[in-house]
Amino acid sequence: MSNYETITIEKRGNVAILTINRPDKMNALNKMVHAEGVAALDELRRDGEVRVLVITGAGEKSFIAGADISEFEGQTPVTQRDLFHEETFFNSIDAFPKPVIAMVNGFCLGGGNELALACDLRVCSENARFAQPEINLGIMCGGGGTQRLPRLIGEGRAMEIMLTGDMIDAETALRFGLVNHVYPAAELEAKTMELAARIAEKAPIALQLSKEAVKFASRSNLDEGLRREIDLFAICFSTEDKKEVVSAFLEKRKPVFNGR
Ligand code: COA
Repeated sequence: MSNYETITIEKRGNVAILTINRPDKMNALNKMVHAEGVAALDELRRDGEVRVLVITGAGEKSFIAGADISEFEGQTPVTQRDLFHEETFFNSIDAFPKPVIAMVNGFCLGGGNELALACDLRVCSENARFAQPEINLGIMCGGGGTQRLPRLIGEGRAMEIMLTGDMIDAETALRFGLVNHVYPAAELEAKTMELAARIAEKAPIALQLSKEAVKFASRSNLDEGLRREIDLFAICFSTEDKKEVVSAFLEKRKPVFNGR
């Protein structure tokens, strides 16, 4: 993997951990984090050893405290629009073909929450706090929040989060369905890695196609979605991994997947 200034990548078996590494700035997303995030995801996408990705923030206080507010000065509507029309970190995560888990270890604000929303699963520590505080800065979400949040937790709850800018705690996030699991801070990493490793053991192509099918659900009508599901389901039957499952079953052993 390349060396990056604002992010680190660690590989543990078939799980990669991408850490936003600006703890002194609460891991706020500046332009370099976006650029390096996009580049790193491209490398991780092509790395056959990586089957699941975990994204987190460095330090114990913050996952990501939103966009880097110090970069707001001097921005014009045109520069902001260009920035968000380019390939963004948010969209690169959304388009990443392998499962992505956001491990939320503290403040998850603004663009940080939008980034977590672009992931497939979200797990957090008991001290995590979530908000879309853009409204308090006289602006609104630009990283997908207004679209992904209501699809995940429903319009009424999303509307309250957007319009008040208030923080919600981990228990409320769990009740809303914003996060899948809440753990004591000391257990967050171990529990997340356990979940990631469990997913990483599955057949890689089936994982990717399942992810594609589920994501299609909120982007299509039911008939189109059901047709897409059948096509993707059929592709699974062409894989070596599917044959391996049958052989392993007959030979009474654990399957070993090669991702082909
Ligand atoms: N952009 C740039 N810098 C940020 C930042 C952001 N979004 N959030 C925090 N920081 C920086 C602070 O400026 C401070 O830097 P400094 O030590 O050089 O002064 C450092 O991170 C620590 O933050 P601080 O505010 O001292 O910590 P805190 O524990 O008192 O409060 C927060 C933490 C997250 C509640 C608070 O920093 C905050 O409200 N940040 C802005 C969140 C926001 O509105 N994000 C949405 C942007 S659209």
